[in-house]
Amino acid sequence: MDQIDHLTAPGSTGEEKPAAPRITVRDATRSFVTAGRSAVHAMGPMDLTIGDDEFLCVVGPSGCGKSTLLKIIAGLLAPSSGEVAINVSGEHRIPIAMVFQDYGIYPWKTVRANVDLGLRLTGRPSAERREIVDDWLARLGLTEFADAYPGALSGGMRQRVSVARALAIDPEVLLMDEPFAALDAQLREVLQEELLAIWQARRRTVVFVTHSLEEALLLGDRVVVMSARPGRVIADINVPFERPRTGAVRTDALFAKLRGELRTSLQPQVTAQFDAGKDKR
Ligand SMILES: Nc1ncnc2c1ncn2[C@@H]1O[C@H](COP(=O)(O)OP(=O)(O)OP(=O)(O)O)[C@@H](O)[C@H]1O
Ligand SMILES: [Mg+2]
Repeated sequence: MDQIDHLTAPGSTGEEKPAAPRITVRDATRSFVTAGRSAVHAMGPMDLTIGDDEFLCVVGPSGCGKSTLLKIIAGLLAPSSGEVAINVSGEHRIPIAMVFQDYGIYPWKTVRANVDLGLRLTGRPSAERREIVDDWLARLGLTEFADAYPGALSGGMRQRVSVARALAIDPEVLLMDEPFAALDAQLREVLQEELLAIWQARRRTVVFVTHSLEEALLLGDRVVVMSARPGRVIADINVPFERPRTGAVRTDALFAKLRGELRTSLQPQVTAQFDAGKDKR
């Protein structure tokens, strides 16, 4: 495995060593300094090890540093201290794709061109790309809007464009920041099932941020709960439901039990984060 060069790499990647975890976050912190304000300690120290082909869900109160964590893993932000390493095979021209919380799509490009954006960088011929793009547009219910511009789309449709763009690349590591948050409950369930099927067919390492405990338990192999800012890992639970999974696991008694446990971990953190926000006014 190669190591991505924008991230620091602990140790060597010699063949004699056992396979390294896909993602290692070690003692990572991040602060932001904004002009005229004292530094905001946004995240950490954070320790997290994510295995190859693991689907990890991250939950935590609003403002605790979840998006910051994803951006650090993506290499878009550097940690203020600590280390982050990602192992990739080197077979993919674009090993990591990210679905941004604010969609990150270009208003001056059509839906089709936005979805094609990452694929173009893979150097595939245009006919092949068109086929892939059409396939993802259809899967996400966007075919009718292929030639529309984002300004003419609803928030949920823009979010689906962003998901389509990331999935079309078929990266080794998929980072998804609340990718279904803007969807209505029914469509959200449809896309959760779609994502389960996609992941089942082609396992990838996924780090998926969500505010929905149900979504985390439905999709994840593991759910990590982050504390109030600065976000740290305060709970890390394995999700035992067998794969292939469907939405039917929601009715499992264990599902309700795990959701209760997650809620018990999360609730004091949400309150703490909210109270801290009030103090700052
Ligand atoms: N570029 C930045 N400049 C200054 N502060 C920032 C920046 N990005 C994030 N922050 C601060 O870092 C903290 C964590 O933000 P982050 O966006 O990671 O939270 P989050 O857990 O993703 O929240 P949400 O659930 O609302 O999306 C917040 O206090 C935020 O104001
Ligand atoms: Mg966020």
